[in-house]
Amino acid sequence: MTELRDDPRTIAHTSVAEDSMSVAVVGLGYVGLPSALALIAGSARVVGVDVSTDRLTRIRAMDVDLLPSDHARLRRALELHELTLTDDPAVISGADAVIICVPTPIDEHLTPDLRALSAACESVVSNARAGQTIVLTSTSYVGTTRDMLIAPLEERGMTIGTDVFVAFSPERIDPGNSSVSHDEVPRVVGGQTEECSARAAAVLALMTSRVHTVSSPEAAELTKLYENTFRAVNIALVNELADVSGVLDLQVTEVIDAAATKPYGFMPFAPGPGVGGHCIPCDPHYLLWQLRTHRVSMPLVESAMRDIAERPSRVVQRARDLLASRAIPTDSARVVVVGVSYKPGVEDVRESPALEIIERLQDLGVEVHYVDPYVPHVRVHGHELLGDSPDELIGRPPDLAVLHTRHPETGLEWLAGVPLVLDATYRAFDAPHRVAV
Ligand SMILES: NC(=O)c1ccc[n+]([C@@H]2O[C@H](COP(=O)([O-])OP(=O)(O)OC[C@H]3O[C@@H](n4cnc5c(N)ncnc54)[C@H](O)[C@@H]3O)[C@@H](O)[C@H]2O)c1
Repeated sequence: MTELRDDPRTIAHTSVAEDSMSVAVVGLGYVGLPSALALIAGSARVVGVDVSTDRLTRIRAMDVDLLPSDHARLRRALELHELTLTDDPAVISGADAVIICVPTPIDEHLTPDLRALSAACESVVSNARAGQTIVLTSTSYVGTTRDMLIAPLEERGMTIGTDVFVAFSPERIDPGNSSVSHDEVPRVVGGQTEECSARAAAVLALMTSRVHTVSSPEAAELTKLYENTFRAVNIALVNELADVSGVLDLQVTEVIDAAATKPYGFMPFAPGPGVGGHCIPCDPHYLLWQLRTHRVSMPLVESAMRDIAERPSRVVQRARDLLASRAIPTDSARVVVVGVSYKPGVEDVRESPALEIIERLQDLGVEVHYVDPYVPHVRVHGHELLGDSPDELIGRPPDLAVLHTRHPETGLEWLAGVPLVLDATYRAFDAPHRVAV
């Protein structure tokens, strides 16, 4: 057990009022940490609970992937001892409110991996006390809040809506995106009773300016799954549009930008090498998995998820074709993948299509390098692959570059010596020798 509160740097002499609401944030990852910082900015007293002592140490050392504005908030919170960090779930019982934001990934069979969520909910239930408001924010199947919080709390003899107040409120954070601040994003909340919704809304109001209430936790759970399934389907559609634009000798981005001038009934999506991160590749599978028990399917969504999953192989096929067009055998080719995180401006490589692209190229015998100032190393085929700097590659340029993710303020001039640049972002018009996927 690590009680970082004992550390002189984090002893909790909070600068926020002692009578302000105290909130335990369970899970301090890409969602939980910015949420904890937003709550502190909203004058809550926050204790962050995470099972990973490594993560806690990195937060204390400010060695975490955050927007610059959240970095500044974290620095201030640590300097002013406003953030208590611990791996001891017993502290949960001391909080007025609890927010759960632990990971909900899928396994290799596309089945929800609910281990972290069950463990977190179990520790919240066993440490719950009368008067507390508990808000689950992790994306999950419809009925999770009831199965993992409401029923076990009732088994403990607590009456929901009287003794303890339970709600689901999906997180909508967009890591790496500073164009919309976390506080401006409206939150949806669905409580087990009206009082549960009202109390949960009061907690959420500490970190957002607008809360939209729905009638139940289930409605809020399905709202989140619908939002991300909507993205997945539209990404699959725009990828298809990119492919047919190529066939018709048109530039897909020109068509998307033109369609986006329509002020209603249209929303632009970007084609690319596939999808990554903890949301779009995973969340729709929570819905598809659950529906199988009802013997119901969603063919449109299944097809979209299949198309998205196949996208990295398409990039590799295009890379093979381009190498073949220059008579370069794959087993003597050198390829650099530019940008390996799943999207610009973040270090996150979870589910990143770049990893599959690198593995597939290696399977073909290609010598693969990568360049990404945000990601010093990645794990592919069970081995660590270290990133190169452009300077290391300029002396002996690769045969082909696959432009996967373009981070903010990164120039592509160094690719001038690379004879072929396969642009999987579809937007790198300044890339030398550019060919779109
Ligand atoms: N990352 C995103 O862009 C994003 C956006 C919206 C919603 N979400 C959803 O938010 C949830 C959290 O995602 P994330 O990206 O922050 O995950 P993450 O992996 O970045 O962080 C989760 C943290 O929870 C900790 N944890 C795991 N089990 C725990 C337990 N039993 N008790 C306490 N801590 C525990 C982990 O150590 C980790 O630090 C997921 O359901 C995800 O789908 C994520």
